[in-house]
Amino acid sequence: MNIEKENEREPSRPKLANLFCKENTVNEIPRNIPSIEKLGGAIESFLELSRRINEGKPQKYWYPLSMPTYGTEEVLQALDSLCSFQTTMGEKTLEFEKRFADHQNSGAAVMVNSGSSADLLMCHLLVDPIQPLLAPGSEVLTPVVTWPTQLWSVMMAGLKLKLVDVDPETLNIDLADLERSITPSTKALFLVHLMGNPCPMDRIQEIAQEHSLTIVEDCCEALDSTYAGVKVGNFGLMASYSFFFSHHMTTMEGGMVVCRDEELVDRLKMLRAHGWLRNVDDSKFPLDSYNVDPRYAFVDWGLNVRPTELQAGFGLCQLEKLPGFNQRRRRLARRFFSALDKNQYLSFPDVDPKADPCWFALPIMVKTDAPFTRHDITNYLESQGIETRPIVAGNIARQPVARLFPEFKTRTFQGADKVHENGFYMGLSPLFSEGMIDQLLETLQTYLNGFWQRG
Ligand SMILES: Cc1ncc(COP(=O)(O)O)c(C=O)c1O
Repeated sequence: MNIEKENEREPSRPKLANLFCKENTVNEIPRNIPSIEKLGGAIESFLELSRRINEGKPQKYWYPLSMPTYGTEEVLQALDSLCSFQTTMGEKTLEFEKRFADHQNSGAAVMVNSGSSADLLMCHLLVDPIQPLLAPGSEVLTPVVTWPTQLWSVMMAGLKLKLVDVDPETLNIDLADLERSITPSTKALFLVHLMGNPCPMDRIQEIAQEHSLTIVEDCCEALDSTYAGVKVGNFGLMASYSFFFSHHMTTMEGGMVVCRDEELVDRLKMLRAHGWLRNVDDSKFPLDSYNVDPRYAFVDWGLNVRPTELQAGFGLCQLEKLPGFNQRRRRLARRFFSALDKNQYLSFPDVDPKADPCWFALPIMVKTDAPFTRHDITNYLESQGIETRPIVAGNIARQPVARLFPEFKTRTFQGADKVHENGFYMGLSPLFSEGMIDQLLETLQTYLNGFWQRG
């Protein structure tokens, strides 16, 4: 069959991808096209039939860590990529990057296959052999309580990790310990806004300026949190985001790096894909003196942490939904935290007066004088169908992996120990109802009442 001829006969055949260009929003899927309407209906039924959330877990949770926030639009986008054989990084990725950068007001964005890859890419940019921003072995300060891939990224890029204690009242980096930890070898500060709670950026920026430290932000749990009205991720050289299933928006797996510096963005893109001179402004890298085929020109070293078009298609849909999602996250979190305010036995993180967190989850600390432990209360909550987790890795120096690396064992971390012993979190999803939050509060209250009655 002559494919060109065949296409000529069908010039107006609707392409789903075209429906997602700038003028159209993802909410405007033309369901009135019969074949798409039929497919959409079939996907809706299939989503219902195939639902296996919670399966494989020890019990069914009525209050799970998260709920699926994607539906027919995202699946249609993924099918479009599959059926048009446009599965590897391409136009949808470019469009999603552009829209995400606009959403963040942050110059440019580079999509990758996970938040961990975003952290890894940022750290590799710091030591990129084309023009290293930091000398190999430079000291990078990171908080000791975080998702571990943030730390591994520093180490895998050949930088020297130095752990800083956290403030158990905020879960974020402890400012006094941060200042104490700075030495002449310290060159960068890799922050995390844990659970979505923004770090006190005014003071941190002052400290960084005073000591000429590069700031890098891990915003994987903090998409749309703000400090002084500015979205986190805009306070340093670059920032990372995660689109894992339970995060503020999801691309199944996926992540993003944002950065304002165009030249660095080009280098991030090359580091993302083999060090390959592709998808970048190649005029900056003349190949005249090399006898190589420009189609396979490698000008840097690199990884392969590219996303797929299926993930980017998800991202385009989810980004449209994000403001609505995050408005609900904020509302539900307010309802929960205001009911727990000044609780005798439980506390939640302090928030800087200039910060407006868009919470990732509902973190709780059991007060040290409570007549029960973190284990007691989480066991109770689990028995009542409420899923819980520790505050990520707790004090990483107490994880088994720390035995492998002497840098984890150089000191103690009292703030992190408190988080390790007393902290836990419960889920927060924009798909939770106000009624679920009330029932969660009632369940907690029933537990706490038992102790008050005993006096
Ligand atoms: C603070 C933080 N950084 C990095 C990551 C890694 O993201 P991903 O799971 O997408 O690799 C996570 C994941 O939850 C995280 O919470």
